[in-house]
Amino acid sequence: MKTAIYPGSFDPVTNGHLDIIERASKIFDHLIVGLLNNPKKNYFFDLEERIFMLREATKHLKNVEIDAFDGLLVNYAKMRNTKILIKGLRAISDFEYEFQMALMNHKLSSDIETLFMMTNQQYSYLSSSVVKEVAAFGGNVDQFVPPVVAKMLYERFNKQSREKSDTETDDVYTESLEDYYGLLLNGKYFDD
Ligand code: PNS
Repeated sequence: MKTAIYPGSFDPVTNGHLDIIERASKIFDHLIVGLLNNPKKNYFFDLEERIFMLREATKHLKNVEIDAFDGLLVNYAKMRNTKILIKGLRAISDFEYEFQMALMNHKLSSDIETLFMMTNQQYSYLSSSVVKEVAAFGGNVDQFVPPVVAKMLYERFNKQSREKSDTETDDVYTESLEDYYGLLLNGKYFDD
């Protein structure tokens, strides 16, 4: 049985990720979507939420498993008995980083192979970061992410706005909203 791992942060999963998952699941008997849980990283959605969204979005794909890992990806691959890593490439700009990671992973474990799949052209501009930014400023993200993700993004941003307006005076609210968007724009949650 041919198994591969498609690793990532998926914070949150986008239609671009889903396109890679669907195509890879047709090539391999078993595809493991491995969510990195790095305690040092500031995720926008916690691990349980990211797992939930991925499970919902892939429930039509019977050979796809959603799992989480921490530490080195090569160790996780060994533990899951596979040597194949799948990565999506959106643009030339992705290449340098992915090339470095593929070489490092190969150096760490010489039997590991990274296979790159070109993103479908219609998703080449998509990233989790851009989607979060659109949602943060009240934009519609329905065409960029699976329905469950859109729902969770709207809920999260609406709840945060409501909580702030319920508990703070107008001045403080405006100030903290600016701080909040400042954090967003400075990349606190946007490093994918
Ligand atoms: O979706 P992302 O955040 O671009 O995914 C990055 C990921 C999870 C594939 C990468 O950060 C990773 O493999 N992290 C695990 C640690 C590791 O093995 N690093 C590679 C050697 S430096």
